[in-house]
Amino acid sequence: MPRTPSTADDDIFDLRLNRSAPDLWPMLDALYGQRNDYDAFKAALLKSLRKAWKDRAPDLKRLDLIRDLEPDWFQRADMAGYVFYIDRFAGTLPKVLEKLDYLDDLGVNYVHFMPCLKPRPGDSDGGYSVMDYRAINPAYGKMADFEAVTAELRQRGISVCIDLVLNHTAKEHAWAKKAAKGDPKYQDYYLMFDTPDLPKRYEETLVEVFPDNAPGNFTHYPDFGKWVWTTFNEHQWDLNWANPQVFLEIVEIMLFLANRGVDVLRLDAVAFMWKRMGTRCQSEPEVHMILQALRACSRIAAPAVLHLEEAIVAPAEMLPYLGRGRHDGKEGNLAYHNSLMVQFWSSLATRDTRLMTHVMATHFPDRLTNATYATYIRCHDDIGWAVTDEDAGALNLSGPAHRAFLSDFYDGTFPGSFARGTLFQENPATGDKRISGSFASLAGLEKALAEGDATGREQALQRILMGHALIAAFGGIPLIYMGDELALLNDYGYRDVPEHAHDSRWVHRPRMDWEAAASRHTGDTDASRIFTGVQHILARRRATPALHAAHATQILHCDTPGIFAFRRAAPTGALVCLFNFTESWQHIPEGWLRAQGATRLHDELSDAAVQVHHGNIALPPHARVWIS
Ligand code: GLC
Ligand code: GLC
Repeated sequence: MPRTPSTADDDIFDLRLNRSAPDLWPMLDALYGQRNDYDAFKAALLKSLRKAWKDRAPDLKRLDLIRDLEPDWFQRADMAGYVFYIDRFAGTLPKVLEKLDYLDDLGVNYVHFMPCLKPRPGDSDGGYSVMDYRAINPAYGKMADFEAVTAELRQRGISVCIDLVLNHTAKEHAWAKKAAKGDPKYQDYYLMFDTPDLPKRYEETLVEVFPDNAPGNFTHYPDFGKWVWTTFNEHQWDLNWANPQVFLEIVEIMLFLANRGVDVLRLDAVAFMWKRMGTRCQSEPEVHMILQALRACSRIAAPAVLHLEEAIVAPAEMLPYLGRGRHDGKEGNLAYHNSLMVQFWSSLATRDTRLMTHVMATHFPDRLTNATYATYIRCHDDIGWAVTDEDAGALNLSGPAHRAFLSDFYDGTFPGSFARGTLFQENPATGDKRISGSFASLAGLEKALAEGDATGREQALQRILMGHALIAAFGGIPLIYMGDELALLNDYGYRDVPEHAHDSRWVHRPRMDWEAAASRHTGDTDASRIFTGVQHILARRRATPALHAAHATQILHCDTPGIFAFRRAAPTGALVCLFNFTESWQHIPEGWLRAQGATRLHDELSDAAVQVHHGNIALPPHARVWIS
């Protein structure tokens, strides 16, 4: 369909450029201003932004306008997401459309298609080794299918999130192939060294992400005589973000994808984008400058689009991805709340929320500007025990011992553990052991079923529901990870798949169990109890405007170590959310609740009055309540 841009259209572009210019140019000046090709780069960038805007379809431009007018659209209590692999959930992209009733039934209006751009053949790190950012994985469909699906979802009010890997490309990407052939222009897109000297010096302070199967951060290629920076796997070549051409290429890709109907770009592995000798090369200040500049580019040429930044790092290091200091309100709109996830599992294992309360209260402000969290309990990755020695120390715990306990607990070897998980990337040098496993298996369902333990089974189901009630209330977009809503167990089949056997994360990337889904309303199977429970939680979330992400989340210190508590401070009144992390009944004084502002004593989650027993309220094992 040919489109002639109107003057009004050009005008809007210029106005948006003016709006975001102060966010964009100072970042680029600082990053690239010293180079003699800088002016040419700026001109090229402006041209790309204009072109992307010109190519943007009218309905997307309308969405841009709507979201400019309603900038809190993603912070509202009706937002809830669902995360899945297209093949494992539906088979192909067009078939996703056949599953919309299911998504509707669950109550989600945001879908994250796990990596869906064209990956390298063979092992592609679950699709995070991309060889063509402008093509869809042929196993899922074509770009035309993708556009048809996003258009249909847009009609239905469902937002689409896809991954954009910023730190590296597959070594099969066209740029990498040219670099391997010796083209200096493309060699400068990556980080390549003629001798091992510099790599050795960098290694002194680098950590290893995949120590088991991809040790070290560099790979030597004798055929073209270079040492290439490969933080993750050998086939994932780190991009050189100090080269402005890389910035330009990625902006063009980003806007190309935005114009195909993407609502949220999940920017993958962003912490690693800038390298500095003598550091871990994670979360360097330049990373935040690049991310702010990328965000400004989207805001100019595709303002409907949000950025979700994936930085799985310690609490204090994570917050800047949501814009702190001079980046306040200008960086990621969303970032994963990794600490909330880690602390959920930590508190479940210890039956003690004091560390969780300390970490949440110490490191996280009660509200953010133009941003919120992506809250989750499980995702496609492993769980790394990101508890710092300082935070553990504040509770008189030893950091290394606590982290070791959590790994042992969740791989099931610690005496009395309810969990069945699998170790991921055990690093004897650092003592680091990460954990894979599905929500249900880590929460105790697999073990209880194997042992015919009815009490254990019930407890596991209650833990799963409590976790979902927590991420629905904390503030942010709760992301339900496919299969968790049906309590799917670990899938050990990955061990027989040669491309997956080395990577235990596949244990929690099952195929959708459509049989279990079909009986989701039929009664008291575990799957139907969890499905209807999660459905209910999301429905109550939609009905509770106090959960809007812009309202402060204030961590409360209650004197009961088994209870995690926070207040959502809405102008209409406080909502006090309580979660019992133990298998025992707990009580909370009515007076304490009232003092926190919960004077109506109505549980918005069950939509029932809270019973008071001689001045106390009683919380059953794994209770979750949202008291107004
Ligand atoms: C991200 C992804 C992870 C992948 C890594 C490398 O952290 O979540 O699955 O292995 O990036 O791309
Ligand atoms: C580490 C990295 C993260 C990656 C994950 C994969 O946590 O920080 O980016 O996705 O490992 O396991």
